[in-house]
Amino acid sequence: MKWSGGHDENKEADNMHSINRYLKLKEKLKELRTLALTGIAEAGSGHPGASFSAAEIMGCLYFQIMKFDIKNPSNPSRDYFINSKAHSAPGYYATLSLVGSFPKEEIRTLRKLDSRLQGHPVRYSKMQNHHSVPGIEYSGGSEGIGLSVSIGICLANKLDKQENIVYCLLGDGETNEGQIWEASMAAAKFKLNNLIAILDRNKIQQDGFTEEIMPIDPVKEKWLSFNWEVVEINGHKIEQLIPELLKKPIDKPKIIIANTVKGNGIKHMANNPQWHGRAPSKKHLPLLIRELEGEYMVSPSIIAGADGIGEESLKQKITTAERHGADMIHLDVMDGKFVPNSTFFFDTIKKLREGTKLPFDAHLMINNPDRVLDGYIDAGCDIITVHAEACSNEQEFERINSKLLSNGVSPGLAVNPSTELPEWIFSRLDNLDVIILMSVNPGFAGQKFIPEVLPKMKRVIPLLRERGFKGYFEADGGIDMSTIAQCFDAGCRIFVMGNAIFGHSDVDKRFKDTRFMLDSYLEQSLLDESQSLNIREDWVKGRRNIIEQFNLSK
Ligand code: DX5
Ligand code: ZN
Repeated sequence: MKWSGGHDENKEADNMHSINRYLKLKEKLKELRTLALTGIAEAGSGHPGASFSAAEIMGCLYFQIMKFDIKNPSNPSRDYFINSKAHSAPGYYATLSLVGSFPKEEIRTLRKLDSRLQGHPVRYSKMQNHHSVPGIEYSGGSEGIGLSVSIGICLANKLDKQENIVYCLLGDGETNEGQIWEASMAAAKFKLNNLIAILDRNKIQQDGFTEEIMPIDPVKEKWLSFNWEVVEINGHKIEQLIPELLKKPIDKPKIIIANTVKGNGIKHMANNPQWHGRAPSKKHLPLLIRELEGEYMVSPSIIAGADGIGEESLKQKITTAERHGADMIHLDVMDGKFVPNSTFFFDTIKKLREGTKLPFDAHLMINNPDRVLDGYIDAGCDIITVHAEACSNEQEFERINSKLLSNGVSPGLAVNPSTELPEWIFSRLDNLDVIILMSVNPGFAGQKFIPEVLPKMKRVIPLLRERGFKGYFEADGGIDMSTIAQCFDAGCRIFVMGNAIFGHSDVDKRFKDTRFMLDSYLEQSLLDESQSLNIREDWVKGRRNIIEQFNLSK
């Protein structure tokens, strides 16, 4: 998938904060949620539910898609974000602070007297910058109005012959307001192809589930009948969001129905109407942040399994993995020289790219990877990891790294079980998105996990964190039900699984068991930590359903 580019070729020049690497974006989204939650807990009030259902939507827009200059927020050629469902304010503020609108620390003033960060955002004006922060275009709070405001801006931009886009975020409960439907008729009448609305379809409004309070389904058909272009996606999958946010409609306004989960990221808040507008206790914050840091990704390795590595079989395995909720696809490229086996090369990856939007996690087990790097970038890999042992020297890695960065690909470095990380990597940690700590000697799927790698992980991961590495650690080789939790405990958050998934007849069960194992492991460690923080009783009270779900003893 191509992450760079956009509807405007000059976008990069205007947007100094553009992040176009998959893993970097994931990392920023975690920071967004952490900041929002910190603000809400500190304030003792606020809306975590909507901040978290719309986190990916707001994050993708500001971190990658929109053209804007936060230092010159009234630039007429900027893209606009109209946050019509303005109660997602904590997430919105967190997003803005991450693109440099105001210092991150200020989020702790949320909803306090004299703060610029009130419960609902206020439009920024240079003259009154003690009331608001740069980037806010619209004072929200009363639902149902933002779409009409967006239409006004779109019409004005057309008169001014501006090519920019207005993005309008709508809540699903908000579409109970009649004004939304008046506005939607007007947008279609004026053929506003510079308007992209995003419906945060989390199915919960202030007092309960939307379909009980005021059903809005069939929502897709409603917007289609109002003559809008309509697409429906998973609003937490950035690989689905980004292409749709970038794709300008042709001759009518467009709405993206983003299916989301209210409170997504914190289990007891997820899909729970009680957490529409409620703050967690400040005492719980360290545990909640730990939960956010526990987010993990499963990356099935499609060379595994009895069906072999013919193109059809690879496609089939990708389809299966996607159906059962894989987060990305791990592609083991082997050249028969660096490792005693050969698999496939970029031409095959290019063909596989057509069949899925899932991020491609390419692991190059080849000599001199810099000679063929362009092929893998061009094939649409999102992450490209090379081996420290395969780079002849630091300069070769440097060349690879800068090429990946300039092409919007997440760079990775892999080391074999007996290889230590090269010293030169420590000065390059800012430009590295993932480190693979191999737990088998590379070459084949289905090998046994080498247990000596665990102490290595436990030694290397804290050291790299201390040295400022913010990226991901990926465990690769022999990861199964008996080894995955230990790697998670050591700090790995991406798990390559070959044989454990495709060597099993019930793939669905394997995915479910994997998630259950990791989720219950995390849940247990939160419970243990609540004990050491002396808040166990209180923690269990709020978390009872989840704890029971994992059969843990309270
Ligand atoms: C080993 C590869 C791994 C492997 C994973 O050289 O890098 O990705 O295929 O498969 P399992 O999980 O079976 O070890
Ligand atoms: Zn691999």
